[in-house]
Amino acid sequence: MIKQLSDFQFPTTAAQLYPDTPTRPWVLEIGFGDGRFWPAYAATFDVPPNYLGVEISGVSLLKAQRRLQEAGLANAHLTKLMATPLLTQVIAPRSLDTVVVNFPDPWPKAEHVEHRLLRAPFFRLAASRLKVGGALLLTTDHDEYFEFACREAQVSGAMRVETGAAPQAALETKYALKWEGLGLSPNHARMVALGTDLVDVPAATFAPLPPVLPYSTGGTDPQENALPHAILSLPATLDLTTFDKQTLRGPSYTVVLLEAYRSLRRDELTVLAHVVEGELTQEVLVNVTQRADGSSLVRLGRFGGPIITPGVKAAVGAVADWLASLGAEVKHRGY
Ligand SMILES: C[S@@+](CC[C@H](N)C(=O)[O-])C[C@H]1O[C@@H](n2cnc3c(N)ncnc32)[C@H](O)[C@@H]1O
Repeated sequence: MIKQLSDFQFPTTAAQLYPDTPTRPWVLEIGFGDGRFWPAYAATFDVPPNYLGVEISGVSLLKAQRRLQEAGLANAHLTKLMATPLLTQVIAPRSLDTVVVNFPDPWPKAEHVEHRLLRAPFFRLAASRLKVGGALLLTTDHDEYFEFACREAQVSGAMRVETGAAPQAALETKYALKWEGLGLSPNHARMVALGTDLVDVPAATFAPLPPVLPYSTGGTDPQENALPHAILSLPATLDLTTFDKQTLRGPSYTVVLLEAYRSLRRDELTVLAHVVEGELTQEVLVNVTQRADGSSLVRLGRFGGPIITPGVKAAVGAVADWLASLGAEVKHRGY
């Protein structure tokens, strides 16, 4: 029921996520909080739609998981991710029926407006992942954010805005009850995806780790080559007594090589890299191992199930370049 980023394909189809119910409507809820909305809303359907909830709070994830389990909703998944990379990389164009956003963080200060989720580029992205005629359902008590979001949806050119009454389930979430207690009343809008040609909306560019990978460093094995890697010839003496943090900025990523560790068991080195690409952050390990022919293999480690992105490839390149700066000769770059 809880999906890690590494459990997804890029993109993932409804048939892959819901093999028993692939043809049911598909609902994505963004920022589900403690997960009260979906069990209540799903109960209003004769047959519960397929559900994917995305949230950035790990505590919320566990609370929501308990609620979904109690409700016995088998065709419901939760994931701890930012909404934008999930929509961009995991959800295929024109595959969702509904996107639900209940009580999004309003970021009320003028200098924080850029943190708001519901801005025109987001609406264009959401519209591209919705089927034509599918809708984003927004409920919020925050009048100014509501007007802002409706304006942004219209400006996006990808959505038509209709206002109306919120579904009852959206009025019973944790935040709905909190704001109701303060005397605030919620606004609701249905933002309907138009059939606009969304040429500039990013498509999935990430790749999952290959499913099977031998740990050997054997040479021309195609599976070895499927992971970002480089082959180096290290000098007879390599000064690895110090390591300085290094930062590499690329067109779509920032890579920081944070630390290098030596194995106690064999002649191996591992570099910890921090990779930031938009809203996606990954910590990855890049291993440096000896090959049978005496050369060295620099290769992305499988630990943590990293996703192969341009930034992760650059992290492997950065390790190769760091070793090259210490006198290694790079014989092959496979990233
Ligand atoms: C004000 S709370 C509302 C929670 C819930 N929808 C409710 O009505 O009780 C906003 C939620 O959105 C989550 N959130 C904020 N930005 C997010 C993003 N980019 N992607 C996914 N979740 C996000 C927050 O962690 C928080 O749980």
